[in-house]
Amino acid sequence: MNKPVAVHPLLVAKGLRKAFTKRGSAPIDVLQGIDITVQPGDRIAIVGKSGAGKSTLLHVLGTLEKPTEGTVHFLGQDVFTYDEENLSKFRNQQVGFVFQFHYLMLEFTALENVMMPALIANHSKSQAKEKANHLLSRVGLSHRTDHKPSQLSGGEQQRVAIARSLMMSPKLLLTDEMTGNLDPITGAQVFELVQTIVSEFKQALISVTHDEAMAKTYDKVFRLTDGILKKS
Ligand SMILES: Nc1ncnc2c1ncn2[C@@H]1O[C@H](COP(=O)(O)OP(=O)(O)OP(=O)(O)O)[C@@H](O)[C@H]1O
Ligand SMILES: [Mg+2]
Repeated sequence: MNKPVAVHPLLVAKGLRKAFTKRGSAPIDVLQGIDITVQPGDRIAIVGKSGAGKSTLLHVLGTLEKPTEGTVHFLGQDVFTYDEENLSKFRNQQVGFVFQFHYLMLEFTALENVMMPALIANHSKSQAKEKANHLLSRVGLSHRTDHKPSQLSGGEQQRVAIARSLMMSPKLLLTDEMTGNLDPITGAQVFELVQTIVSEFKQALISVTHDEAMAKTYDKVFRLTDGILKKS
């Protein structure tokens, strides 16, 4: 008889706590026991006041920072038990990040920036180039592939960052104030674009945003207050 196959949620975070300690001052308890389950294709918005810990939570969920306590399971695997090498691999292949500031590499062109995650993963250069060109066309930048970040507008830079975040077809996309630096019209276009691509590829999306109207368009909205995450 075949054994039943265990079906895991995409991500399960349990009891996440994060304290920042600075010598000579009391620790700041930013996250104080957070549980969240994310299923494939979920679209989740996280809102909360400035300083509430939204970015910190996103960084812990994406394994950019270790929690002080608690666990993150991704498809059943306890990711913080991975060594540094496997953790980097995990981040490279399973999670896409789009930050408020794009963090593009200034000395490289748009195309090279988008190709980078695939080159890090040792994919062939020709395949990486093909996919990066495709993604840049999806974000409307086919005419800007050879431009360096300093030769691009803010919205264009953010669209390059979005293309880069999708390069490895991650199952989870994390965005932090993705449109915060853009004018309302460009912001709305970038937002629409991400929604379209994410639903097309059935990726889960967790977005930190100050924009309550934007948050309302997500399937679930959580509010982070006093270190605790509650459904809004
Ligand atoms: N590396 C760090 N060391 C010490 N304190 C930190 C560190 N990172 C964040 N903090 C503190 O943790 C708290 C939460 O910061 P975080 O950046 O997560 O807030 P946020 O909700 O994203 O705010 P914003 O909406 O302004 O971006 C803040 O009080 C901040 O000062
Ligand atoms: Mg923040």
